[in-house]
Amino acid sequence: MSEPFLIKHMSSGKFFHPRGGSENPCDGTEIILCSPIHTHMHWKFVRVEGQWGYIQHAESGKIINPKGGSLCSGNETELVVNNDRQQGALFSLDACNHHLVHKGGKFAHPQGGSPCAGEETKVVLHSDVHAGMKFAFVSPCNANQEVKVV
Ligand code: GAL
Repeated sequence: MSEPFLIKHMSSGKFFHPRGGSENPCDGTEIILCSPIHTHMHWKFVRVEGQWGYIQHAESGKIINPKGGSLCSGNETELVVNNDRQQGALFSLDACNHHLVHKGGKFAHPQGGSPCAGEETKVVLHSDVHAGMKFAFVSPCNANQEVKVV
């Protein structure tokens, strides 16, 4: 399991949070983009196969899944946290392209695709590639410093 890191939407500077910012979010809690930094929005990567693994909420141990858990989740499927460790919960962190890639082939996007996504914008899966869907994996101590997630 990796050290804790933050997931930063590069163009807006906002971070992946479980909605409500709880240390123990309920199953099905949505991932949204928000500005504050605290320990309840730290993530760890649990490598499972090759580059694929689970993105785990550091405090609760819950992992990010597309809502419904399908490997073939369609465009606009929201990301949530729960305990379902399955193929549909596998992601890879492509630090070179700054993409957060779902095993089904789609990417994490701010809902609506805006580069300046506002507070509490939901995070969804989408197949498009553009400047508004770049994410960086950064240090909890310095959100301007990218970290190598191993
Ligand atoms: C749309 C945009 C897509 C994608 C999507 C995410 O508005 O055209 O490329 O980013 O939002 O919800």
